[in-house]
Amino acid sequence: MSTAVVLAAGLGTRMRSPLAKVLHPLLGRPMVGWIVAALREAGVDDIIVVVHHQEDAVKAALLAQDPALRFARQEDPRGTGDALRSALPLLPATGTVLVTAGDTPLLQGRDVRRLLDAHAAVPGRLATVASFHADDAHGYGRIDRGQGIVEHGECSPDQLAIREVNSGMYAFDAEHLHAELPHLQAHPPKGEFYLTDLAGRLDGGATGVTSEFPATAFAGVNDRAQLADARGVLRRRVNRAWAEGGVDFADLDHASVDVTVVLHPGAVVGFGAVIEGTSVVAGSVGAHCVIRHVNVAPGAVIHAGSVCEGATVGPGALVGPMARLRPGAVLEEGTHVGNYVEIKNAVIRRGAKVNHLSYVGDADVGERVNVGAGTITCNYDGVKKHRTVIQADAFIGSNTALVAPVTVGAGAIVGAGSTITQDVPADAIAIGRGMQKNHEGRASQLRARQTR
Ligand code: UD1
Ligand code: CA
Repeated sequence: MSTAVVLAAGLGTRMRSPLAKVLHPLLGRPMVGWIVAALREAGVDDIIVVVHHQEDAVKAALLAQDPALRFARQEDPRGTGDALRSALPLLPATGTVLVTAGDTPLLQGRDVRRLLDAHAAVPGRLATVASFHADDAHGYGRIDRGQGIVEHGECSPDQLAIREVNSGMYAFDAEHLHAELPHLQAHPPKGEFYLTDLAGRLDGGATGVTSEFPATAFAGVNDRAQLADARGVLRRRVNRAWAEGGVDFADLDHASVDVTVVLHPGAVVGFGAVIEGTSVVAGSVGAHCVIRHVNVAPGAVIHAGSVCEGATVGPGALVGPMARLRPGAVLEEGTHVGNYVEIKNAVIRRGAKVNHLSYVGDADVGERVNVGAGTITCNYDGVKKHRTVIQADAFIGSNTALVAPVTVGAGAIVGAGSTITQDVPADAIAIGRGMQKNHEGRASQLRARQTR
Protein backbone atom coordinates (compact mmCIF):
# COMPACT_ATOMS: atom_id res chain seq x y z
CA MET A 1 0.00 0.00 0.00
CA SER A 2 1.50 3.32 -0.99
CA THR A 3 0.03 6.77 -1.39
CA ALA A 4 1.05 9.59 -3.71
CA VAL A 5 -0.02 13.23 -3.83
CA VAL A 6 0.17 15.16 -7.10
CA LEU A 7 0.23 18.95 -6.68
CA ALA A 8 -1.82 20.31 -9.56
CA ALA A 9 -3.59 23.39 -8.20
CA GLY A 10 -1.48 26.03 -9.96
CA LEU A 11 -2.81 28.09 -12.87
CA GLY A 12 0.43 28.29 -14.83
CA THR A 13 0.28 31.92 -16.00
CA ARG A 14 3.37 31.52 -18.18
CA MET A 15 1.43 29.21 -20.47
CA ARG A 16 -0.61 32.26 -21.54
CA SER A 17 -3.57 29.99 -21.91
CA PRO A 18 -7.17 29.99 -20.75
CA LEU A 19 -6.68 26.30 -20.00
CA ALA A 20 -5.18 25.28 -16.65
CA LYS A 21 -1.57 24.25 -17.22
CA VAL A 22 -1.95 20.64 -16.15
CA LEU A 23 -4.79 20.11 -18.65
CA HIS A 24 -2.73 20.89 -21.74
CA PRO A 25 -2.80 17.77 -23.89
CA LEU A 26 0.23 15.71 -24.77
CA LEU A 27 -0.55 12.90 -27.23
CA GLY A 28 -4.16 12.55 -26.18
CA ARG A 29 -3.58 12.74 -22.43
CA PRO A 30 -3.54 15.84 -20.20
CA MET A 31 -0.14 16.76 -18.79
CA VAL A 32 -1.05 15.70 -15.25
CA GLY A 33 -2.36 12.40 -16.62
CA TRP A 34 1.20 11.44 -17.55
CA ILE A 35 2.24 11.79 -13.93
CA VAL A 36 -0.69 9.69 -12.79
CA ALA A 37 0.27 7.03 -15.35
CA ALA A 38 3.89 7.02 -14.12
CA LEU A 39 2.71 6.60 -10.52
CA ARG A 40 0.50 3.65 -11.49
CA GLU A 41 3.37 2.13 -13.47
CA ALA A 42 5.44 2.32 -10.26
CA GLY A 43 2.74 0.43 -8.39
CA VAL A 44 1.29 3.32 -6.37
CA ASP A 45 -2.23 2.26 -5.49
CA ASP A 46 -3.63 5.40 -3.83
CA ILE A 47 -3.27 8.69 -5.72
CA ILE A 48 -4.57 12.05 -4.46
CA VAL A 49 -4.53 15.01 -6.82
CA VAL A 50 -4.61 18.51 -5.30
CA VAL A 51 -6.74 20.80 -7.47
CA HIS A 52 -7.95 24.39 -7.52
CA HIS A 53 -7.87 26.11 -10.91
CA GLN A 54 -10.52 24.62 -13.22
CA GLU A 55 -10.92 21.83 -10.74
CA ASP A 56 -14.04 20.35 -12.37
CA ALA A 57 -12.32 20.07 -15.73
CA VAL A 58 -9.17 18.64 -14.16
CA LYS A 59 -11.17 16.07 -12.22
CA ALA A 60 -13.26 15.06 -15.24
CA ALA A 61 -10.22 14.63 -17.47
CA LEU A 62 -8.37 12.59 -14.87
CA LEU A 63 -11.31 10.41 -13.85
CA ALA A 64 -11.85 9.48 -17.49
CA GLN A 65 -8.30 8.13 -17.49
CA ASP A 66 -8.26 6.66 -13.98
CA PRO A 67 -11.55 6.37 -12.06
CA ALA A 68 -9.84 5.38 -8.80
CA LEU A 69 -8.20 8.78 -8.21
CA ARG A 70 -9.00 10.88 -5.16
CA PHE A 71 -8.97 14.67 -5.03
CA ALA A 72 -8.21 17.34 -2.45
CA ARG A 73 -9.14 20.98 -2.93
CA GLN A 74 -6.64 23.71 -2.13
CA GLU A 75 -8.93 26.62 -1.20
CA ASP A 76 -6.52 29.49 -1.70
CA PRO A 77 -3.25 28.44 -3.32
CA ARG A 78 -0.44 29.66 -1.12
CA GLY A 79 2.48 27.50 -2.13
CA THR A 80 3.48 23.87 -2.35
CA GLY A 81 3.39 23.34 1.42
CA ASP A 82 -0.14 24.73 1.56
CA ALA A 83 -1.10 22.45 -1.34
CA LEU A 84 0.05 19.32 0.49
CA ARG A 85 -1.61 20.54 3.68
CA SER A 86 -4.97 20.55 1.89
CA ALA A 87 -4.53 16.81 1.25
CA LEU A 88 -3.63 16.07 4.87
CA PRO A 89 -7.08 14.73 5.91
CA LEU A 90 -6.86 12.15 3.12
CA LEU A 91 -3.39 10.90 4.00
CA PRO A 92 -2.81 7.59 5.79
CA ALA A 93 -1.63 7.78 9.41
CA THR A 94 1.50 5.75 8.76
CA GLY A 95 3.58 4.53 5.84
CA THR A 96 5.17 6.40 2.95
CA VAL A 97 3.63 9.31 1.05
CA LEU A 98 5.18 10.25 -2.27
CA VAL A 99 4.68 13.88 -3.36
CA THR A 100 5.24 15.16 -6.86
CA ALA A 101 4.35 18.13 -9.07
CA GLY A 102 1.75 18.06 -11.82
CA ASP A 103 3.87 19.72 -14.48
CA THR A 104 6.70 17.21 -15.07
CA PRO A 105 5.11 14.94 -17.70
CA LEU A 106 8.34 13.14 -18.59
CA LEU A 107 8.38 11.41 -15.22
CA GLN A 108 8.44 7.61 -15.56
CA GLY A 109 7.49 4.75 -13.29
CA ARG A 110 11.10 3.71 -12.80
CA ASP A 111 11.99 7.20 -11.43
CA VAL A 112 9.20 6.94 -8.87
CA ARG A 113 10.29 3.42 -7.94
CA ARG A 114 13.89 4.56 -7.49
CA LEU A 115 12.89 7.25 -5.00
CA LEU A 116 10.59 4.91 -3.06
CA ASP A 117 13.34 2.30 -2.87
CA ALA A 118 15.94 4.84 -1.73
CA HIS A 119 13.57 6.09 0.94
CA ALA A 120 12.75 2.58 2.17
CA ALA A 121 16.44 1.67 2.31
CA VAL A 122 17.07 3.96 5.31
CA PRO A 123 15.11 2.86 8.40
CA GLY A 124 13.41 5.72 10.22
CA ARG A 125 13.69 8.13 7.30
CA LEU A 126 11.33 11.09 7.54
CA ALA A 127 11.97 12.54 4.09
CA THR A 128 13.94 11.69 0.97
CA VAL A 129 14.25 14.24 -1.84
CA ALA A 130 14.85 13.32 -5.47
CA SER A 131 17.46 15.66 -6.90
CA PHE A 132 19.26 16.01 -10.20
CA HIS A 133 22.12 18.03 -11.61
CA ALA A 134 20.89 20.88 -13.77
CA ASP A 135 22.96 22.62 -16.46
CA ASP A 136 20.91 25.70 -15.75
CA ALA A 137 19.74 25.69 -12.14
CA HIS A 138 17.88 28.97 -12.47
CA GLY A 139 14.55 28.92 -10.65
CA TYR A 140 15.14 25.63 -8.88
CA GLY A 141 15.56 25.10 -5.14
CA ARG A 142 19.22 24.20 -4.47
CA ILE A 143 20.23 21.09 -2.53
CA ASP A 144 22.60 22.29 0.21
CA ARG A 145 23.41 19.07 2.06
CA GLY A 146 23.48 19.62 5.78
CA GLN A 147 21.44 22.82 5.37
CA GLY A 148 18.40 21.77 3.34
CA ILE A 149 16.63 23.02 0.23
CA VAL A 150 17.07 26.72 -0.46
CA GLU A 151 14.82 28.42 -3.00
CA HIS A 152 16.55 30.30 -5.80
CA GLY A 153 15.45 33.69 -4.53
CA GLU A 154 16.79 32.99 -1.05
CA CYS A 155 20.20 31.59 -2.00
CA SER A 156 23.54 33.07 -0.91
CA PRO A 157 26.06 33.53 -3.75
CA ASP A 158 27.70 30.21 -2.77
CA GLN A 159 24.37 28.41 -2.83
CA LEU A 160 23.51 29.90 -6.22
CA ALA A 161 26.57 28.08 -7.60
CA ILE A 162 25.15 24.70 -6.56
CA ARG A 163 24.01 22.68 -9.56
CA GLU A 164 22.23 19.94 -7.64
CA VAL A 165 18.57 20.93 -7.51
CA ASN A 166 15.28 19.83 -6.00
CA SER A 167 13.21 17.87 -8.52
CA GLY A 168 9.96 18.59 -6.69
CA MET A 169 9.45 14.87 -5.98
CA TYR A 170 9.76 13.62 -2.40
CA ALA A 171 9.06 10.56 -0.28
CA PHE A 172 7.79 11.40 3.21
CA ASP A 173 6.99 9.41 6.29
CA ALA A 174 3.24 9.94 6.84
CA GLU A 175 3.62 10.54 10.59
CA HIS A 176 6.15 13.27 9.87
CA LEU A 177 3.64 15.01 7.58
CA HIS A 178 0.82 14.81 10.13
CA ALA A 179 3.15 16.20 12.81
CA GLU A 180 4.80 18.99 10.83
CA LEU A 181 2.47 20.22 8.06
CA PRO A 182 0.17 22.12 10.45
CA HIS A 183 3.18 24.06 11.76
CA LEU A 184 4.70 25.27 8.47
CA GLN A 185 5.64 28.95 8.54
CA ALA A 186 4.87 31.33 5.69
CA HIS A 187 7.84 32.82 3.85
CA PRO A 188 7.87 36.55 3.26
CA PRO A 189 7.29 38.52 1.09
CA LYS A 190 4.55 36.49 -0.67
CA GLY A 191 3.45 34.58 2.42
CA GLU A 192 3.91 31.24 0.68
CA PHE A 193 4.25 27.94 2.49
CA TYR A 194 7.16 25.85 1.22
CA LEU A 195 6.90 22.10 1.09
CA THR A 196 10.69 22.12 0.98
CA ASP A 197 10.78 23.09 4.64
CA LEU A 198 9.65 19.55 5.47
CA ALA A 199 12.74 18.11 3.82
CA GLY A 200 14.88 19.09 6.80
CA ARG A 201 18.65 19.45 6.72
CA LEU A 202 19.32 16.62 4.24
CA ASP A 203 22.29 15.30 6.19
CA GLY A 204 21.64 11.69 5.18
CA GLY A 205 20.15 10.77 8.54
CA ALA A 206 16.52 11.55 9.24
CA THR A 207 16.30 13.27 5.87
CA GLY A 208 18.35 12.72 2.75
CA VAL A 209 18.69 13.04 -0.98
CA THR A 210 18.85 10.56 -3.81
CA SER A 211 20.24 11.86 -7.05
CA GLU A 212 20.60 9.14 -9.67
CA PHE A 213 18.04 10.66 -12.00
CA PRO A 214 18.54 11.90 -15.54
CA ALA A 215 17.89 15.64 -15.75
CA THR A 216 15.16 14.96 -18.33
CA ALA A 217 13.12 12.94 -15.83
CA PHE A 218 11.90 16.11 -14.13
CA ALA A 219 11.87 18.57 -17.02
CA GLY A 220 9.13 20.96 -15.99
CA VAL A 221 6.62 22.53 -18.33
CA ASN A 222 6.09 26.21 -17.55
CA ASP A 223 5.47 27.65 -21.01
CA ARG A 224 4.37 26.44 -24.41
CA ALA A 225 7.89 26.04 -25.72
CA GLN A 226 8.59 23.54 -22.95
CA LEU A 227 5.21 21.94 -23.67
CA ALA A 228 6.23 21.36 -27.28
CA ASP A 229 9.62 20.03 -26.17
CA ALA A 230 7.92 17.58 -23.80
CA ARG A 231 5.57 16.49 -26.56
CA GLY A 232 8.55 15.72 -28.76
CA VAL A 233 10.18 13.56 -26.09
CA LEU A 234 6.94 11.69 -25.37
CA ARG A 235 6.23 11.21 -29.07
CA ARG A 236 9.53 9.46 -29.60
CA ARG A 237 9.09 7.43 -26.43
CA VAL A 238 5.62 6.21 -27.46
CA ASN A 239 6.68 5.52 -31.05
CA ARG A 240 9.80 3.69 -30.00
CA ALA A 241 7.81 1.37 -27.71
CA TRP A 242 5.48 0.50 -30.61
CA ALA A 243 8.44 0.03 -32.97
CA GLU A 244 10.02 -2.39 -30.51
CA GLY A 245 6.71 -4.25 -30.60
CA GLY A 246 6.89 -4.70 -34.36
CA VAL A 247 5.35 -1.54 -35.84
CA ASP A 248 7.14 -0.10 -38.86
CA PHE A 249 7.70 3.66 -38.49
CA ALA A 250 9.12 5.72 -41.34
CA ASP A 251 10.58 8.05 -38.70
CA LEU A 252 10.24 7.94 -34.90
CA ASP A 253 10.28 11.71 -34.54
CA HIS A 254 7.90 12.50 -37.35
CA ALA A 255 4.73 10.64 -36.49
CA SER A 256 2.35 11.50 -33.70
CA VAL A 257 0.51 8.61 -32.06
CA ASP A 258 -1.83 9.30 -29.14
CA VAL A 259 -1.43 7.07 -26.07
CA THR A 260 -5.04 6.01 -26.58
CA VAL A 261 -4.24 4.39 -29.94
CA VAL A 262 -3.56 0.68 -30.46
CA LEU A 263 -1.10 -0.41 -33.17
CA HIS A 264 -0.69 -4.05 -34.18
CA PRO A 265 2.64 -5.68 -35.02
CA GLY A 266 3.18 -5.25 -38.73
CA ALA A 267 1.28 -1.96 -38.89
CA VAL A 268 3.00 0.75 -40.94
CA VAL A 269 3.13 4.41 -39.89
CA GLY A 270 4.28 6.81 -42.59
CA PHE A 271 6.35 9.96 -42.28
CA GLY A 272 4.36 12.70 -40.58
CA ALA A 273 1.30 10.55 -39.90
CA VAL A 274 -0.95 11.68 -37.05
CA ILE A 275 -2.97 8.91 -35.38
CA GLU A 276 -5.34 9.97 -32.65
CA GLY A 277 -8.17 8.98 -30.35
CA THR A 278 -9.45 5.43 -30.27
CA SER A 279 -7.81 4.43 -33.56
CA VAL A 280 -6.72 0.81 -33.96
CA VAL A 281 -4.28 0.20 -36.81
CA ALA A 282 -3.20 -3.15 -38.22
CA GLY A 283 -2.70 -1.97 -41.79
CA SER A 284 -0.77 0.94 -43.24
CA VAL A 285 -1.20 4.67 -42.68
CA GLY A 286 0.69 6.70 -45.27
CA ALA A 287 2.74 9.86 -45.06
CA HIS A 288 0.99 12.93 -43.66
CA CYS A 289 -2.33 11.20 -43.05
CA VAL A 290 -4.42 12.38 -40.12
CA ILE A 291 -6.65 9.68 -38.65
CA ARG A 292 -8.80 9.93 -35.56
CA HIS A 293 -11.02 7.18 -34.13
CA VAL A 294 -10.36 5.02 -37.18
CA ASN A 295 -10.03 1.25 -37.36
CA VAL A 296 -7.60 0.15 -40.08
CA ALA A 297 -7.78 -3.61 -40.69
CA PRO A 298 -4.86 -5.83 -41.71
CA GLY A 299 -3.83 -5.32 -45.30
CA ALA A 300 -5.72 -2.04 -45.58
CA VAL A 301 -3.69 0.86 -46.96
CA ILE A 302 -4.43 4.52 -46.39
CA HIS A 303 -2.32 6.40 -48.88
CA ALA A 304 -0.61 9.74 -48.27
CA GLY A 305 -2.45 12.86 -47.29
CA SER A 306 -5.77 11.28 -46.35
CA VAL A 307 -7.82 12.69 -43.48
CA CYS A 308 -10.11 10.19 -41.76
CA GLU A 309 -12.28 10.39 -38.67
CA GLY A 310 -14.70 7.94 -37.10
CA ALA A 311 -14.32 5.45 -39.95
CA THR A 312 -13.77 1.72 -40.38
CA VAL A 313 -11.40 0.56 -43.11
CA GLY A 314 -11.79 -3.15 -43.81
CA PRO A 315 -9.20 -5.78 -44.71
CA GLY A 316 -7.34 -5.01 -47.90
CA ALA A 317 -9.25 -1.78 -48.54
CA LEU A 318 -7.37 0.99 -50.34
CA VAL A 319 -7.92 4.64 -49.43
CA GLY A 320 -6.49 7.80 -50.98
CA PRO A 321 -4.14 9.43 -51.62
CA MET A 322 -5.92 12.58 -50.44
CA ALA A 323 -9.18 10.89 -49.50
CA ARG A 324 -11.46 12.10 -46.75
CA LEU A 325 -13.40 9.66 -44.58
CA ARG A 326 -15.89 11.28 -42.23
CA PRO A 327 -17.76 9.76 -39.29
CA GLY A 328 -19.79 6.68 -40.15
CA ALA A 329 -17.77 5.75 -43.23
CA VAL A 330 -17.54 1.96 -43.31
CA LEU A 331 -15.35 0.46 -46.01
CA GLU A 332 -15.71 -3.28 -46.24
CA GLU A 333 -13.11 -5.75 -47.39
CA GLY A 334 -11.35 -5.05 -50.66
CA THR A 335 -13.00 -1.72 -51.37
CA HIS A 336 -11.26 1.19 -53.10
CA VAL A 337 -11.80 4.83 -52.19
CA GLY A 338 -9.52 6.93 -54.32
CA ASN A 339 -8.13 10.43 -54.58
CA TYR A 340 -10.28 13.42 -53.71
CA VAL A 341 -13.17 11.23 -52.61
CA GLU A 342 -15.23 12.08 -49.54
CA ILE A 343 -17.27 9.40 -47.78
CA LYS A 344 -19.62 10.22 -44.90
CA ASN A 345 -22.07 8.00 -42.99
CA ALA A 346 -22.02 5.43 -45.76
CA VAL A 347 -21.29 1.73 -46.15
CA ILE A 348 -19.15 0.74 -49.11
CA ARG A 349 -19.69 -3.00 -49.40
CA ARG A 350 -17.18 -5.69 -50.36
CA GLY A 351 -15.28 -5.02 -53.53
CA ALA A 352 -17.07 -1.77 -54.38
CA LYS A 353 -15.02 1.07 -55.87
CA VAL A 354 -15.30 4.84 -55.60
CA ASN A 355 -12.05 5.79 -57.21
CA HIS A 356 -12.03 9.47 -58.07
CA LEU A 357 -13.43 12.87 -57.11
CA SER A 358 -16.74 11.75 -55.63
CA TYR A 359 -18.91 12.59 -52.63
CA VAL A 360 -20.81 9.66 -51.13
CA GLY A 361 -22.84 10.61 -48.07
CA ASP A 362 -25.73 8.89 -46.26
CA ALA A 363 -25.50 5.97 -48.65
CA ASP A 364 -25.36 2.22 -48.97
CA VAL A 365 -23.13 1.17 -51.85
CA GLY A 366 -23.58 -2.54 -52.65
CA GLU A 367 -21.02 -5.23 -53.34
CA ARG A 368 -18.87 -4.79 -56.44
CA VAL A 369 -20.58 -1.52 -57.38
CA ASN A 370 -18.46 0.85 -59.48
CA VAL A 371 -19.03 4.53 -58.80
CA GLY A 372 -17.61 6.64 -61.61
CA ALA A 373 -15.47 9.72 -61.21
CA GLY A 374 -17.21 12.84 -60.01
CA THR A 375 -20.36 11.12 -58.77
CA ILE A 376 -22.25 13.04 -56.11
CA THR A 377 -24.95 11.82 -53.75
CA CYS A 378 -27.21 14.84 -53.34
CA ASN A 379 -28.14 13.92 -49.79
CA TYR A 380 -29.30 17.28 -48.46
CA ASP A 381 -32.39 19.14 -49.62
CA GLY A 382 -31.68 22.17 -47.50
CA VAL A 383 -33.67 20.85 -44.55
CA LYS A 384 -33.21 17.11 -44.23
CA LYS A 385 -30.68 14.44 -45.12
CA HIS A 386 -31.83 11.56 -47.35
CA ARG A 387 -30.31 8.18 -48.20
CA THR A 388 -29.02 6.82 -51.45
CA VAL A 389 -29.00 3.07 -52.01
CA ILE A 390 -26.97 1.50 -54.80
CA GLN A 391 -27.50 -2.24 -54.97
CA ALA A 392 -24.94 -4.92 -55.81
CA ASP A 393 -23.12 -4.87 -59.15
CA ALA A 394 -24.65 -1.59 -60.32
CA PHE A 395 -22.51 0.73 -62.46
CA ILE A 396 -22.73 4.47 -61.96
CA GLY A 397 -21.31 6.48 -64.85
CA SER A 398 -19.04 9.44 -64.24
CA ASN A 399 -20.40 12.77 -63.13
CA THR A 400 -23.74 11.38 -61.99
CA ALA A 401 -25.86 13.27 -59.48
CA LEU A 402 -27.94 10.88 -57.37
CA VAL A 403 -30.72 12.98 -55.85
CA ALA A 404 -31.72 11.25 -52.61
CA PRO A 405 -33.84 9.57 -51.51
CA VAL A 406 -33.16 7.27 -54.43
CA THR A 407 -32.35 3.61 -55.10
CA VAL A 408 -30.40 2.18 -58.01
CA GLY A 409 -31.31 -1.52 -58.37
CA ALA A 410 -28.93 -4.45 -58.58
CA GLY A 411 -26.93 -4.65 -61.77
CA ALA A 412 -28.41 -1.43 -63.19
CA ILE A 413 -26.33 0.93 -65.33
CA VAL A 414 -26.54 4.71 -65.02
CA GLY A 415 -25.20 6.71 -67.96
CA ALA A 416 -22.47 9.24 -67.38
CA GLY A 417 -23.59 12.76 -66.58
CA SER A 418 -27.05 11.69 -65.42
CA THR A 419 -29.11 13.41 -62.80
CA ILE A 420 -31.04 10.55 -61.21
CA THR A 421 -34.18 11.68 -59.41
CA GLN A 422 -36.25 8.48 -59.66
CA ASP A 423 -35.46 4.95 -58.56
CA VAL A 424 -33.73 2.81 -61.19
CA PRO A 425 -35.06 -0.77 -61.37
CA ALA A 426 -32.66 -3.70 -61.19
CA ASP A 427 -30.90 -4.44 -64.45
CA ALA A 428 -32.23 -1.22 -66.12
CA ILE A 429 -30.15 1.33 -68.00
CA ALA A 430 -30.96 4.84 -66.82
CA ILE A 431 -29.93 7.96 -68.69
CA GLY A 432 -30.99 11.28 -67.29
CA ARG A 433 -29.31 14.02 -69.30
CA GLY A 434 -29.89 16.31 -72.29
CA MET A 435 -29.35 14.31 -75.48
CA GLN A 436 -26.52 15.28 -77.80
CA LYS A 437 -27.10 16.84 -81.23
CA ASN A 438 -24.29 17.11 -83.83
CA HIS A 439 -24.48 19.95 -86.42
CA GLU A 440 -22.18 18.77 -89.19
CA GLY A 441 -19.79 21.29 -90.75
CA ARG A 442 -20.96 24.16 -88.59
CA ALA A 443 -17.75 24.72 -86.60
CA SER A 444 -15.84 26.41 -89.43
CA GLN A 445 -18.91 28.53 -90.24
CA LEU A 446 -19.04 29.74 -86.67
CA ARG A 447 -15.34 30.58 -86.59
CA ALA A 448 -15.63 32.52 -89.84
CA ARG A 449 -18.45 34.61 -88.33
CA GLN A 450 -16.47 35.23 -85.15
CA THR A 451 -13.38 36.57 -87.00
CA ARG A 452 -15.26 38.69 -89.55
C1 UD1 B 1 9.23 24.00 -6.59
C2 UD1 B 1 10.17 23.84 -5.39
C3 UD1 B 1 11.62 23.94 -5.88
C4 UD1 B 1 11.88 22.89 -6.94
C5 UD1 B 1 10.89 23.04 -8.07
C6 UD1 B 1 11.04 21.88 -9.03
C7 UD1 B 1 8.94 24.76 -3.50
C8 UD1 B 1 8.84 25.88 -2.53
N1 UD1 B 1 9.90 24.86 -4.42
O1 UD1 B 1 9.39 25.32 -7.08
O2 UD1 B 1 12.52 23.73 -4.78
O3 UD1 B 1 13.22 23.01 -7.41
O4 UD1 B 1 9.53 23.00 -7.58
O5 UD1 B 1 10.28 22.09 -10.21
O6 UD1 B 1 8.20 23.81 -3.40
N2 UD1 B 1 1.19 24.06 -6.68
C9 UD1 B 1 -0.03 23.90 -6.07
N3 UD1 B 1 -0.47 24.87 -5.21
C10 UD1 B 1 0.26 25.99 -4.94
C11 UD1 B 1 1.51 26.14 -5.57
C12 UD1 B 1 1.95 25.16 -6.43
O7 UD1 B 1 -0.72 22.89 -6.29
O8 UD1 B 1 -0.21 26.81 -4.14
C13 UD1 B 1 1.64 23.01 -7.59
C14 UD1 B 1 1.84 23.54 -9.00
O9 UD1 B 1 0.64 23.37 -9.74
C15 UD1 B 1 2.98 22.68 -9.52
C16 UD1 B 1 3.78 22.31 -8.27
O10 UD1 B 1 2.92 22.56 -7.16
O11 UD1 B 1 2.51 21.50 -10.13
C17 UD1 B 1 5.08 23.11 -8.13
O12 UD1 B 1 4.76 24.48 -7.99
P1 UD1 B 1 5.65 25.63 -8.63
O13 UD1 B 1 5.04 26.94 -8.29
O14 UD1 B 1 5.90 25.33 -10.06
O15 UD1 B 1 7.00 25.47 -7.78
P2 UD1 B 1 8.42 25.98 -8.20
O16 UD1 B 1 8.51 27.44 -8.00
O17 UD1 B 1 8.77 25.44 -9.53
CA1 CA C 1 7.59 24.52 -11.48
